[in-house]
Amino acid sequence: MDSFLISGGHRLKGSVEISGSKNSALPIMAACLMAEGKTTLKGIPRLLDIDSMNKLLGMLGCDVVRHEPAEGAGGDGPALNGPLDITVVDENRCEAPYEIVKTMRASICVLGPVLAKRKKAIVSIPGGCAIGDRPVDLHVRGLQKLGAEFHTENGNIIGEVRGRLKGCRMYLGGAQGPTVLGTINVMCAATLAEGQTVLVGAACEPEVVDCANLLNKMGAKITGHGTPEVQIEGVESLKGCEHRVIPDRIECGTFMIAAAITNGELELKHCNLDHLVAVADRLEEVGVNICRENGTIRVSSARRLNPVEMTTQPYPGFPTDLQAQLMALLCLADGISVVTERIFPDRFLHVGELNRMGGRVRKEGATAVVQGVRELQGANVMASDLRASAALVLAGLVAKGTTRIDRVYHIDRGYEKIEQKLVAVGAQIERINEKAWG
Ligand code: EPZ
Repeated sequence: MDSFLISGGHRLKGSVEISGSKNSALPIMAACLMAEGKTTLKGIPRLLDIDSMNKLLGMLGCDVVRHEPAEGAGGDGPALNGPLDITVVDENRCEAPYEIVKTMRASICVLGPVLAKRKKAIVSIPGGCAIGDRPVDLHVRGLQKLGAEFHTENGNIIGEVRGRLKGCRMYLGGAQGPTVLGTINVMCAATLAEGQTVLVGAACEPEVVDCANLLNKMGAKITGHGTPEVQIEGVESLKGCEHRVIPDRIECGTFMIAAAITNGELELKHCNLDHLVAVADRLEEVGVNICRENGTIRVSSARRLNPVEMTTQPYPGFPTDLQAQLMALLCLADGISVVTERIFPDRFLHVGELNRMGGRVRKEGATAVVQGVRELQGANVMASDLRASAALVLAGLVAKGTTRIDRVYHIDRGYEKIEQKLVAVGAQIERINEKAWG
């Protein structure tokens, strides 16, 4: 298992290219299970979770080919990643087994597409994860309303469809509000249902919109995506198409905070500030300067950081996936900040680790009270989940001395080449292998 060694205290300055969105890419790749012919996806980042989805699509009878980037090609993100072609070659397979689901919860994205197209789907039930209980009841309920029948057996959800799914009007929200992947799962299935489906209480995240745009290119008839009410007119079939995924708004937000926490100056390329309005709002309140020029964002920060109140909310509110990173920044603000988590109330594993680095964060239920300190100190800390790990990297960039972060495979699941990108703008960060470390 790899670790990061970060020597803190270096101001970041320079330019960073933001990758394609992981959370858009994963459900979009799953949606390709419904298309006839080849779909070509561009901007797909090279990440562990993408490798897992490739593997799962292979198990489900897809031919998946990652091309090398064209010589001299530009404008496809930092790695100049070549396109990914996905073609369904065998429609008889319909199982997402535990061995893959346990490594990546987003495997649940195949449920709707496989069920709609192949009439049967067996998906291992995703267990809880480091950020809390993560049920899939809303996914199942939505698909049931379209006419699928479900039972569970040996840890698997087994869904079957007799004939064709039938469109209907349904409410898709839950106790914590809308569900992103649940909306995408039901929206995908409804594209091949008979008649009209209306999803009320749908998630409005840009990743839902991106998937709807892909499906419409495939021949689906979806309107209202990006609003809480999505209408889908069912079609008989979908065909392969070409699509570029949106920039990763969470990676972009993480680098905005990296600029702020190191009192640095970063130019972020290939990103969309329209997807980060709530994030920019909170960062500006903290004292961060953000300016937009074409597809580029320039971020720099004032020396004094103001404390703020922040609550995570469904889009367009502040994303839960940036809560931990903002908290790392607020650890150094001049006063008391209050951070409330409304999406995953237990998503606070980073609190203990930030406190080991000299932070003063007290958790009370789903709220954390952050008393700003003058400095953080390097320490040996443990990555627990993707975004908590990113928060520790940010803290390490500014901490006095050396920070060692163990289990960075969590970061590799969702941040493409994070250490190379950081080193290129002045960070001192080294990846070490546990064996080499001794
Ligand atoms: C997506 O997960 C993202 N994952 C998460 O990003 C992100 O944190 C989350 O949306 C919220 O924005 C991917 O896109 C792959 P939800 P998802 O269903 O769709 C409850 C990251 O770090 N709920 O929108 O699984 C749920 O418990 C990851 O990149 C139910 O109760 O999240 C939560 O409280 C982590 N029943 C709320 O809804 C359900 O059936 C929202 O979760 C489904 C969800």
